[in-house]
This record gives sequence, C-alpha cells and structure tokens, in this order.
Amino acid sequence: MTLIRPYLETDWPALWPILRATFEAGDTYAYAPDSTEADIHRAWIEAPSATYVAIDASGALLGTYFIKPNQPGLGAHVCNCGYVVAAAARGQGVAAAMCEHSQREAVRLGFLAMQFNLVVATNEGAIRLWRKLGFAVLATLPRAFRHRQLGLVDALVMFKTLG
Ligand SMILES: CC(C)(COP(=O)(O)OP(=O)(O)OC[C@H]1O[C@@H](n2cnc3c(N)ncnc32)[C@H](O)[C@@H]1OP(=O)(O)O)[C@@H](O)C(=O)NCCC(=O)NCCS
Repeated sequence: MTLIRPYLETDWPALWPILRATFEAGDTYAYAPDSTEADIHRAWIEAPSATYVAIDASGALLGTYFIKPNQPGLGAHVCNCGYVVAAAARGQGVAAAMCEHSQREAVRLGFLAMQFNLVVATNEGAIRLWRKLGFAVLATLPRAFRHRQLGLVDALVMFKTLG
C-alpha cells in the first residue's frame, strides 16, 4: 500500500540519501552530481510550492515529488513537477501513483497544465510512464543533457493540459 502525504521536515534524513543517490548518478536530473545537501534541500523543499512523500504501510519512505510554477507571473498557471522513487521501490507503481496525485494537487492549487522541461531521452521507463499518464512529447531538445555516462544526449519537453 502506498500512501502519499505532504513532506515534513522530519522526513529529510531519510529523503536526502534517496535524492543524493539519484542525482549522483547523473542520468536523469540536471542537478550537479556533487550538489550539496543544502543545494538540494533548497531545490526540492524550499523553492517548490509543495513537496510530498510516498510511504509504505510501515512509514518507510518510497518516493517524493515536488510541484511548482514552471514560470513566474504570466506563465505561472503551468506547473512543473519532479519525481524520484527510491531505487529499492522502483517498478511497483509508486511513480504512477505520485504522478496521478500530483495532477490532482495541481488542479486543487489552480494550475491549468503540467510541463516537464528536461526528460532525458535515455530515461525510457520514465518517458513510457509519462506517455501512459497522458503527457505528450512537444519537443526534442538536441543534446540538451550532459549524461554522466553517455555524454550529450537529447531531452524531451512533455506537457499535459489538466482538468
Ligand atoms: C522514473 C521513476 C520515477 C519511475 O518510478 P517507478 O515507481 O519505478 O515507476 P512505476 O513503477 O510507477 O512505473 C510505472 C510504469 O512505468 C514502467 N517503468 C518505470 N520505470 C521503468 C524503467 N526503468 N524501465 C522500463 N519501464 C519502466 C513500469 O514498467 C510501469 O509500466 P506498467 O505499469 O506498464 O508495468 C524512477 O525510476 C526514478 O525515480 N528514477 C530516477 C529519477 C527519474 O528518472 N525521475 C523522472 C525524471 S523525468
């Protein structure tokens, strides 16, 4: 059973290792692989409008996502989200549950659409999942992501109108 609830500051000691391991890999997010704990706390917790965690029945942390306006002012009705699932919890529908939850939260917060700005083209599982959940690929940005193992690879802009 996966429960999704708002992030609490007491989640950070369990959350930081999951985020650090994901960003250190340098294959899915643009955060510098050597980002500090403070950098990532700012980006994942402080800057977004809201952050959530997915937990199992025992309260163990399975994943997390944030939601924030993709642009200021006149572009602020389109939101952006980032999702990470703990390596040991992948392939069990946690990201699917978080993305469905984030779309409901986005509507509740007044957003009209959701945009992913930099979906790494080699992240095939994520692309398949976002497509299945109704996101369209609107653009391919040539060599826009510096993959830690593969070098320069394409990245996709994905978009879904909500409501
Ligand atoms: C991408 C990510 C969020 C997916 O999380 P997850 O909880 O494993 O995904 P789910 O279990 O909800 O997967 C749902 C579907 O996507 C498919 N899928 C997910 N990851 C996959 C992968 N690596 N390869 C192939 N298919 C994958 C699953 O097979 C499943 O399809 P199905 O329902 O038809 O069986 C997770 O792998 C992760 O945190 N990766 C690192 C960070 C990242 O890439 N975030 C997204 C950036 S755009």
